[in-house]
Amino acid sequence: MIRKYVIGKPLIQTFSTVRQIDPSADPLPYFTQRRTKKHLYFHYQLDRKDIVYGLGENMGGINKRGHTYASYNTDNPIHRENTPSLYSAHNFLIVDGRDLFGVFFDTPSKITFDVDKTTPGELFIRTANDNLDIYMITASDANSIAREFLSLIGRPFLPPLWAFGFGQSRWGYKSEADLLAVMEAHKLNRLPLDWLCMDIDYMDHFKLFTFNKLRFPFLPAFVEKTRQRGVHLVPIVDAGVKVEEGYDVYEEGVVGDYFCRNKDGGIFKGTVWPGIVHFPDFFRPEVRRWFGDKYKAMLDLGFDGFWNDMNEPSIFSSEYSKVKSKLDIVKGFFNPHHKESKAEEVAHFDYHNFYNVADGKPLVHHLVHNLYGGYMTMASCQGIERHYDKRFLLFSRSSCIGAHRYGGLWTGDNESRWDHLRTEFHQLPGLNMCGFLYSGADTGGFGSNCTRELLLRWLALSVFTPLMRNHAARRTRSQECYMFGHISAFRNVLMLRYRLLPYIYSEFMKAALNDDMYIKPLAFVFDDPRVRGIENQLMVGESIMIAPIMEKGQTERSVYLPEAMTMVSYRNQKFTTEKLKKGKHTIEVPEDEVVFFIRHDHCIIIGREALNTAEADLKNVELLGDGKSYLQYLDDGYTRVTNIENARLIKRATN
Ligand code: GLC
Repeated sequence: MIRKYVIGKPLIQTFSTVRQIDPSADPLPYFTQRRTKKHLYFHYQLDRKDIVYGLGENMGGINKRGHTYASYNTDNPIHRENTPSLYSAHNFLIVDGRDLFGVFFDTPSKITFDVDKTTPGELFIRTANDNLDIYMITASDANSIAREFLSLIGRPFLPPLWAFGFGQSRWGYKSEADLLAVMEAHKLNRLPLDWLCMDIDYMDHFKLFTFNKLRFPFLPAFVEKTRQRGVHLVPIVDAGVKVEEGYDVYEEGVVGDYFCRNKDGGIFKGTVWPGIVHFPDFFRPEVRRWFGDKYKAMLDLGFDGFWNDMNEPSIFSSEYSKVKSKLDIVKGFFNPHHKESKAEEVAHFDYHNFYNVADGKPLVHHLVHNLYGGYMTMASCQGIERHYDKRFLLFSRSSCIGAHRYGGLWTGDNESRWDHLRTEFHQLPGLNMCGFLYSGADTGGFGSNCTRELLLRWLALSVFTPLMRNHAARRTRSQECYMFGHISAFRNVLMLRYRLLPYIYSEFMKAALNDDMYIKPLAFVFDDPRVRGIENQLMVGESIMIAPIMEKGQTERSVYLPEAMTMVSYRNQKFTTEKLKKGKHTIEVPEDEVVFFIRHDHCIIIGREALNTAEADLKNVELLGDGKSYLQYLDDGYTRVTNIENARLIKRATN
């Protein structure tokens, strides 16, 4: 059951929910409330064994206890277990224990969740704006609560089939020649590839919707050529528009009055990659329409995938902030005197000094900050939809709940570190709970230098995430799969992705169209007290359990099976299976092998090897596991889908 509580008069309408719920006249259950001049506080006393799930992209583990989290979208390059703010605001959590409820704080403003950190056992939530809607969800178990919530916030973004293939990316591929070389290396080494990202260097001086003609002299022939080889190009589109006379996007923005203004009425200026930029005021429908229509030219060139970045918005400096570079922000984190992150503190200067016009009224950006990135994704998605009639790929760095209907998400600038592999693992169920089914991290890590072992182990997790992209920062060690020698192990893990594609695609689509999560904590599926609190095993779709290796040097680990399962190993591009009993096991997983588990009485479907999704055959599948049948979702992979139709469900059964 979903109950809505309206506190004060919400500042603006957010776009988080799709269902109309009448406000309840009763007081908010479970929480006590307190109001000070500046803030509104909500307190709840957790029991010792209660688990707190959710909060989307936030770090801190699957169980959120022990840390403070602040939803205040921040371009934060330092990802630590106790980092309070990343790029998104996902204000939904589930308390599972003595009480069982889900709660969503629907606010465009900053909100802080102290989950058993400052005061032992206390969950306390502080809002910067004392007008908000709260949705309280109750059901018989945590999984049903998550599903109710997903039905409240609406169907997630559905990418095309090719977006489930492997994507390669690097900030540093600068030209057609660079991208061709990556494609060529994949082909030569028989490494599958479906998409290649184009990072900021493809643009002319980082001007949005432009191309550097020297580096990309043969567009659209180049786009066509890559497509013929089965590869989609995915350019980045940032938020800030370069201030430059003669640049059409800038000039149209000024003439149309599409940019955010500062408190003196002038257009707000910040610096990002292009130098001085203006920020489109995505809160206004006419601005979203204008910006969204800019994708038409790119679509006409043959592109059908994009990533939106720097849309917190990230601002390196402005006339208001004193900080000059990202490096200063990074340094700030090492200053123990800063209570909250320096990035957040810096951004405060700027975010207090420009305005968005939301619901017809100018509001200081700070108050509506968390919707900015989401509105950019909405603008992009709706613009693309106006000019392109098939499914396309879109994912964003910054987001809020509601934005999951318009695009997927990647988790930003992580690093090549073992703890960041674990971080992604911990983020996945929270993201799924908040509607971001199409999500994933930079496989191999964005910052720092990756190692062969780390990349292999990370790929073994990414095999199961809908967004599977290897991405790295400039000046880091090259981390393409063919850079580390003994390529067969990389081929093995990438081929596994393509062999599992029929299952992954089917489970993703079934989950998305049935208000379900694609990746879940074990406790959402098994009624077994021993799975409560497991932080290193997850369910992927209905039938697979994963327990990857996430420690350096480890080649064996322990796994708890809440029921008998089939253990599947993929090595030398071959499957082997072994039945394991319920209980604790130690499993061996050499570096060149991927291991996963199939539930008892369940089957999964596997296809043949393929070098891209266009080659993959999702119709001719084999069953694996000790179940008798599998219900496969199957469609052409690109026609737009609105609901789950029986016509798309095919029963695959053993003979
Ligand atoms: C940001 C993005 C990263 C990208 C870089 C350059 O740091 O998070 O993915 O490569 O900008 O565009």
